[in-house]
Formats: sequence, structure tokens, C-alpha cells
Amino acid sequence: KWPKQVTIKEVGPRDGLQNEKAFIETKDKIAWINQLSQTGLTYIEITSFVHPKWIPQLADAAEVAAKIKKVQGVTYAALVPNLKGLEGALAANVDEVSVFMSASETHNRKNINKSIAETFPVLQEVVIQAKKAGKTVRGYISTVFGCPYEGSIDVEQAIKVADKLFEMGIDELSLGDTIGVANPRQVQEVLEEFFKRFPKEKLAMHFHNTRGTALANVLASLEMGITTFDSALGGLGGCPYAPGASGNLATDDLLYMLDGMGIETGVQMEQLAKSAFFIQEKIGRKLNSHYLQTLNKS
Ligand code: HMG
Ligand code: MG
Repeated sequence: KWPKQVTIKEVGPRDGLQNEKAFIETKDKIAWINQLSQTGLTYIEITSFVHPKWIPQLADAAEVAAKIKKVQGVTYAALVPNLKGLEGALAANVDEVSVFMSASETHNRKNINKSIAETFPVLQEVVIQAKKAGKTVRGYISTVFGCPYEGSIDVEQAIKVADKLFEMGIDELSLGDTIGVANPRQVQEVLEEFFKRFPKEKLAMHFHNTRGTALANVLASLEMGITTFDSALGGLGGCPYAPGASGNLATDDLLYMLDGMGIETGVQMEQLAKSAFFIQEKIGRKLNSHYLQTLNKS
């Protein structure tokens, strides 16, 4: 019934730190990513090459991407919104780039300042140029399960965007519950529709835990045969252009559950926890994932 193996994609350095009030020092980001590289994680989204006015927390993207110590077997990815972002990502030689847009018109505008229709040609060009440079490309769709501005989102809207992104040539698509409103039944219903159109091996789930449903949604996705999940260590994270968005599904909570279920990830909890305490100290507040609380208390 359960998959033997699951891939965890750590998005803490990007989705996590983009939402922190404080600017984490560049050297600390680099040190944290280097620690994450020693945990057995095979994928780390390290930063984003977006406009520094929009996301000042990640204004040091070029330096972070250039100075981390890359470990063989780990894919280092960065978010890019347009060709200017891609330029930076290629100059820093990331392994993979991620393009992103929304299923909802309003969130798309608030987040990247374009309509959905205006976004397609921009991302198409990014995918073409990234592929030319030999990079793999991941796609994200935000607000698949609900939008902070528009409320519920018709699954057909997300499928329309997914169609376009796959046509452009993305290698994998991550479905975002940007503001953590999804429930397990909805997740299975949305996936049923997606599976009619796209291979499940190319789909990943990106849950935020705003209302405490992220792990339940993981379970619902596992039952459907999804084997790739995005998460952020300690439950860091959120999108500054989605009011009410809070932490991502916590990597440590996800790992605890998968370990207990006998599902392999290759990630070592002890190393992971150490790196969580490192970044917790730099951020200056206790991270709110459940698993870390058990260690914080002891
Ligand atoms: P814009 O103002 O429309 O950009 O912003 P523009 O193309 O009109 O250019 C204006 C100026 O910005 C120009 O400079 C460009 O060079 C510069 P000027 O000529 O005026 O001096 N510029 C850039 N500078 C640096 N890096 C760039 C870049 N592009 C243009 N890449 C833009 C459009 C997309 C740039 C802006 O809206 C932006 O940066 N948005 C970022 C939003 C963001 O990062 N949101 C969070 C990530 S998404 C997320 O969290 C959801 C996810 O986790 C999944 C989920 O949970 O659902 C992925
Ligand atoms: Mg996110």
C-alpha cells in the first residue's frame, strides 16, 4: 500500500528564509546549507533570484549559490521568475531552476506582477534557455487548493496552468497549497484529476501547515502514489505575497512519520536536528515543528 521510498525536497533556505523578518547573514545561510548537505537530503532549494525589493531576505542569492560547498548526489536548486533571474542562477551554476506561477489570477499578480496569460511567454523563454544551458527545470503552481484573495480555486484552473508548464518542457511539477487550506479529501480529488492528464512520477506536493493539515495531506498523497514532497526544516516558511501563509510542512515532522512507517528517504534525523538547532539559533526564535519541540523541551 505504501511506497518503499520517498524523496524529500528541502525548501527551507528559500521558502523558509524568504518569510523571516530578520535577514539571516549570508555566511549563516551558507553554513546551514552546508549542514543540510550532510543530512542525506538529495535536493535543496537554496535561494531565489527574484527582485531584491520584493524579497529582501534573499538578496544575497548570488553569493549564497556561489559559495556553498556542493556535495555530489545533492541537487541545488533556485527559484527564478524571469530571464534576469535565470541569468543570475546560471552565473552561480545552480543544478536546477524552478519557475513559479499561480492557479489564481490575483495571487499571480500580487506575487509576480503579471497576469497568468502574460506569465506564460516569460516562463517559456526561461525554460528554453535553462534547457539550453543543460539545467533541469521544476515548475510550481501556487494556490492550487485555495487562494488568499479569491478563495476556492477550480481544479481546471490549475490543470490549465499545468498543461502549459508541461508543454514548455518542465521536468517536474510541484502543486502548492500556498496558504495551507487543503484537506485530505480535496487532495485526493485534485490528484485524481491531475492523474488523468499527467504522470504521477512527475508530480510533487508542496504543503504549508497553516491549519495543521499538512501531514494528513501527505498521507492522502502517499495513498495516491505520490513520492515527492517539499518541506522546510522546523516548519519555517511562507509566501510574503499570500496573507496568512505560514510555515511549510516541517521536514523533521515529515521524516519522523516516514521513518516510523518504514518508508526510506535516506535522510538522517540526528544530523537534520543538529542543523535545525543551528538555524534556530541564527533566527533567534524557537522553530515550531512538532518534532523539534520534543527535543527543545528535553
Ligand atoms: P516587476 O517589477 O514587474 O519586474 O517584478 P520588471 O520585469 O518590470 O522589471 C522591473 C525592474 O526589476 C527592472 O530593473 C529589472 O531589471 C528588475 P530596473 O530596470 O527598473 O532597474 N528585475 C529583477 N531584478 C533582480 N532579479 C530579477 C529581476 N527581474 C526584474 N529576477 C518580478 C516582477 C517577478 C521580478 C517580481 O514580482 C518578483 O521578484 N517577485 C518575486 C516574488 C517571490 O519571490 N515570491 C515568493 C516565491 S513564490 C512562493 O513562495 C510560492 C511557492 O513556495 C509555492 C507555494 O507555496 O505555493 C513557490
Ligand atoms: Mg511555498
